[in-house]
Amino acid sequence: EKAGYKHFMQKEIFEQPRAIVDTLRSVLDVNREVLRFSDLNLDASLVHKLRKVFLVACGTSYHACLVGKYLLEGLCRIPVEVDLASEFRYRKPLLDDQSLLIVVSQSGETADTRAALKEGLERGAHCRAIVNVVGSSLARMAHGVLYTHAGPEIGVASTKAFTTQVVAFYLLALHWARTSGTISDPEFSEHLRELLALPRKLEEVLDRADVLRDWAREFLKVEHFLYLGRGILYPIALEGALKLKEISYIHAEGYAAGEMKHGPIALIDENMPVVVLAQKGELYEKMLSNVQEVRARGGRVLAIVEGEQDPRLGESTWQFPVPETSPWLAPVVFSIPLQLLAYHVADLRGTDVDQPRNLAKSVTVE
Ligand code: M6R
Repeated sequence: EKAGYKHFMQKEIFEQPRAIVDTLRSVLDVNREVLRFSDLNLDASLVHKLRKVFLVACGTSYHACLVGKYLLEGLCRIPVEVDLASEFRYRKPLLDDQSLLIVVSQSGETADTRAALKEGLERGAHCRAIVNVVGSSLARMAHGVLYTHAGPEIGVASTKAFTTQVVAFYLLALHWARTSGTISDPEFSEHLRELLALPRKLEEVLDRADVLRDWAREFLKVEHFLYLGRGILYPIALEGALKLKEISYIHAEGYAAGEMKHGPIALIDENMPVVVLAQKGELYEKMLSNVQEVRARGGRVLAIVEGEQDPRLGESTWQFPVPETSPWLAPVVFSIPLQLLAYHVADLRGTDVDQPRNLAKSVTVE
């Protein structure tokens, strides 16, 4: 059932173009350029009357929520708060019938996320779930569901569930932005074109997976990794670090690159590889100076760079180019090399990639 792959995780990484196509197809009528969320049970006009949207989840699904905040606030101009489910339920959240709570989960069974949803239901909020498993607890408890169509995810480390969650948020954001007029019809069509081009771009990255295996070979003995991202890629730095630590058991931290000077720079030396997510655009120059700061302290920089390789990243910097995309979809494109890097480091270290120690696929106890 691994279809020739060594691990489920590897298979699931390679399934992402297909998973994204299926998620798109489930809501998009391509010919008419219409998005339909048949199980969501939520009138877009209601969304614009609400005071706030709360996005709540655990682990990787929480990282998808962090990206979701950028998408919903950026495209729809709706205020969004993001919480870890295990914190949300204990902080007496200010939820009422003016709030929309969206819980996000691959399994639909995570205990803390279920408790967060229960909290929302009891406080009279509008409650929806973005879930991968049909008929799961969260899908049944919420007032409506947006299903990701990742298919069964067996590896404990979440990959295709994550990227389809990001796509689900993007689809919601586009729909609400179009109905409220924060994006024009031509802009909407342009966003759809970018989305439809995404699976092909992911194939391009997957075709070069071997490069990341070569990178991985160099880092089997290191004890720490740092991941830096900015803007919409900050959550991807967090996600990249989580992927590495859970399957390779190497300590890794994700940081907003602008925070480096406020602490983590003290850790940098030749034994601390730093993975930098270099998205082209308004924050690119800032990222170049972060790279300088790391290199000046003897740190090794591994850059995932959008478009062409860039000599300004420095001669000693290893560069993995990824196809250019709309800034809103960069989180999906940049996730793939980080998943592959984590996978190959773990595989080469000989860990149990699909069933890492101490972890369960679905955390149904608190
Ligand atoms: O099934 P869920 O999405 O609710 O699971 C949440 C987390 O337990 C999960 O994402 C976990 O962090 C993964 N092992 C990360 O790869």
